[in-house]
Amino acid sequence: MTDSTYPHHTLSAQDAALIEELRHATRELAAENISLRRELAGTYRLENVIGVSPAMKETLRFVERAIDSDATVLINGEPGTGKELIARAIHYNGPRRDHRFIAQSCASAPEGLLESELFGHTRRAFTGALEDHRGLIEQADGGTLFLDQIGEMPMSMQVKLLHVLEEGAVRPSGGSEPRRVDVRIVTATVKDLREEVEIGRFRPDLYYRLDVLRIHLPPLRERHDDIVLLTRHFLEKYESRAGKKLGGIAPRALQALRDHTFPGNVRELESEIERAVAFANPGQMLDIDLLSNEVVGEPDLLRITGADSEASALPSSLRGRMREIERRMITHELLRNNGNRTRSAAKLGISVRALQKKIHLLGIKA
Ligand SMILES: Nc1ncnc2c1ncn2[C@@H]1O[C@H](COP(=O)(O)OP(=O)(O)OP(=O)(O)O)[C@@H](O)[C@H]1O
Ligand SMILES: [Mg+2]
Repeated sequence: MTDSTYPHHTLSAQDAALIEELRHATRELAAENISLRRELAGTYRLENVIGVSPAMKETLRFVERAIDSDATVLINGEPGTGKELIARAIHYNGPRRDHRFIAQSCASAPEGLLESELFGHTRRAFTGALEDHRGLIEQADGGTLFLDQIGEMPMSMQVKLLHVLEEGAVRPSGGSEPRRVDVRIVTATVKDLREEVEIGRFRPDLYYRLDVLRIHLPPLRERHDDIVLLTRHFLEKYESRAGKKLGGIAPRALQALRDHTFPGNVRELESEIERAVAFANPGQMLDIDLLSNEVVGEPDLLRITGADSEASALPSSLRGRMREIERRMITHELLRNNGNRTRSAAKLGISVRALQKKIHLLGIKA
C-alpha cells in the first residue's frame, strides 16, 4: 500500500482527531492525577494521626502551624515515634498537596550516590554517567522533599543543600547552569542536631536554615493515653488487611500494653498488634496470650519504681511506694498466670501462703 491510498486531507483530519483525543486523554490523566493525589491525601489526613494525650496534642498544634506555613520543618523524636507520618501529614494537608512528596534517607546511600540522587548530574559529570539525571530536589519541585536522618548527611553535601535553600536553585554536578526549584524541605532526625553542631559534625548555618519550625515527637511511654486508641487503630487496620475479625481486646491485654514502656515506640506497638492479628483465629479475643514476652513479660522496672514520667501517680513515701510496687507486681503475675497462685508465687519467689497474705493485705482482687 502506498501513501497515495490516503488522500492528504483525510490524513490531516485523522491527525487532528488523534491530537484532540490525545489532548483529551492528557487532560483526563491530569485530572485523575490530582484526584489520586487527593485520595492519597485522605490517607494522611490529620485524623489518621492519633494523639489525644496532652504531650501529643501539644505536638499536633505545632503540626497545624507547620501546615499553614511554608517554612522548613525539623522533626525530632526517637525511632518509631511517627516522624515520617507527620512529614507526610504536613505535605498532604498543605497547599503543596497536588505536587510530589519525596522521601529520602540521608543515612542509607553511599556518599556519592546520595549526592547524585539529591542534586542530580549531567552526562558530563563523571565517566559512566550516560545521561542527564534529574535529582530528587528537582523532582520534588512544587512539592516537599523529606530528608530523613538529616544528622547523617555528610558535610560536603550540607554545603550543597545550604545553597539550594539560600538560592532556591539546584546545580547538578557537571552542570553549569543552576536550575530554579521551589521545594519545601522537611527533615527528621533521632539525634539532637544542636549537639551535632556543637561537636562540629553539622554546619551551624544549615542548622539554622532547617530548624525554623521544630516538631518534637514524644516517646510513646510519655503518652499512655494514646495507647488504647492506637491499639484499636492498628487492630482495625490489620483486621481489614487480613480479612479477619477478632473478638475485641481483653482489658488485661490493654493493661499490659499500657504498662509496657515501648522502646520501639509506635512502630513496636504496631508490630505487636500485627503479629497478634496474624496469630489469632477469627473471633478470638486479643488477650495476653497473643502478646509478646516483651509486653507481657517482666513488669517494667521504670513504671514499677515510678522512675518515668508517671512517677506522680505513685505515693511519695517509701512505704507507700513499696506497697504500690508489690501490688503492681503481684497483680501483673496473677494476670500472666491466669490467677494461678502457685505459679505466681513461684515466679515472685515467695511462698503461696505469703502470696495469699499479701493479696489480702493489699486488697488485690484475684
Ligand atoms: N500518632 C500516630 N497515629 C497513627 N499511626 C502512627 C502514629 N505514629 C506513628 N504511627 C505509625 O507507626 C509507624 C512508624 O511511624 P514512622 O515510620 O513515621 O516513624 P519514624 O519516627 O519515622 O521512625 P524511624 O525513626 O524509625 O524512621 C508507621 O506505620 C506509622 O504510620
Ligand atoms: Mg522514619
